[in-house]
Order: sequence, then structure tokens, then C-alpha cells
Amino acid sequence: MPDSTDFELSRRRLLIATAASAAAAAATKVSAQMPSNAQAAATGALPMMQVSFTVNGTARELTLDTRTTLLDALREHLHLTGTKKGCDHGQCGACTVIVDGQRINSCLTLAVMHEGGSITSIEGLGEPQDMHTMQAAFVKHDGYQCGYCTPGQICSAVAVLDEIKAGIPSHVSADLTARPQATALELRERMSGNICRCGAYSNIVDAMTEVAGRTA
Ligand code: FES
Ligand code: FES
Repeated sequence: MPDSTDFELSRRRLLIATAASAAAAAATKVSAQMPSNAQAAATGALPMMQVSFTVNGTARELTLDTRTTLLDALREHLHLTGTKKGCDHGQCGACTVIVDGQRINSCLTLAVMHEGGSITSIEGLGEPQDMHTMQAAFVKHDGYQCGYCTPGQICSAVAVLDEIKAGIPSHVSADLTARPQATALELRERMSGNICRCGAYSNIVDAMTEVAGRTA
């Protein structure tokens, strides 16, 4: 004759089996209701959009999920892998590109927001045989070690000198009415959004200082 312990164990097994089959049935129902990506695209359920912009002087047209960042559009769709993905959260600057003359973190902006825009990535600044002045200065001053942050640093550095030339003050500009100068303090402040884990900061400032036409 079964005792009360046997009865309790069988009851528990029955409850577990019932719960498992109910969960499996629910999962099957949900997956039957969820369209596959292909089905969703076919029915227009995915938020796709066309975007046209100029990248490094060439007109490009892409049909993208509207949630695609500019960084992913460059790297995954246009295969311009010079622009790096570091944090993907706007905290390291590795993804910096120049859009309509201004440096931005391409991981923090959607590609479809730049319809008609002009985008310059590191590939558009120069090539190994024909380097941009800033690229050549980074090489000369050892402004990198592993090089992962370097495309973002160089794009930022080019735009920073343009900002200074345009008279845009920074948080360390003592006199907001005076024309800012490319001092080491200004350069360091303006480049503070570009992190270098190899710590090449001093050499980066030297490279920028040379391009700015000043002596370090
Ligand atoms: Fe964009 Fe780090 S990858 S800021
Ligand atoms: Fe290595 Fe900057 S050169 S992270």
C-alpha cells in the first residue's frame, strides 16, 4: 500500500509535467503568431527606409531598418570598417566620423537621420600612399599604439582644428569673446571624448599641435 510520501512525490511529478506541457503549448502558440523576419519584411512590418547620402565623396543609397546606426551602416552595409565600434554607447569616441563638417559619434545617431548629408570617415581623409596631414602627423609623432582608437582620434582631431579656426570656444576657454588658440589645454579638453586605452594622449597632442602650426 503506498504511503503518504509516495503520494506527495507522484503529485509533484504530475504538477511539473502539467506545467511543462502548458508552457510548451504556450510557446508554440506564440511562435505561430510571430512572423519570421522575412515575412515581416514582406508585409512591411519591419521599419525599412531608403536613405541617400554622400560617403567620402561618393553618393550612396541604402535601404535600411530605420533603427540602424550610422556606425553600422558604414561598417556592415558599406563595409567601411576603418570606423571602429568600441563601446557602442557614446563613451569612447572610436566611432567618430565627420558629418557635414562636424564630428559626431556614429554609434549614437541613426543613419536615416542623415538624408542628403556628407559623411567623411577615416577612409575619406587619406590613403596610406596619400595621407591627410593629420594622419602623417600621427605617424610622425607615434600618436597610437594598437591603433584601435586612431581612426576616431584622427577624425576628431581634424574637426577640432576646424572648430578652433571657426572660433568656437570650449569649456576651458578662459575668455569666450577671444579667439581660441590651439593650446595643449584646449586640444586636450576638446579631445576628451576620444579615449585611448594605450595612453597615446601626449603624442596625439604633439601631432595636433604640429598640424595647427604651433610648436609643442
Ligand atoms: Fe561610439 Fe564608443 S563606439 S562612442
Ligand atoms: Fe590603442 Fe589608442 S592606440 S587604444
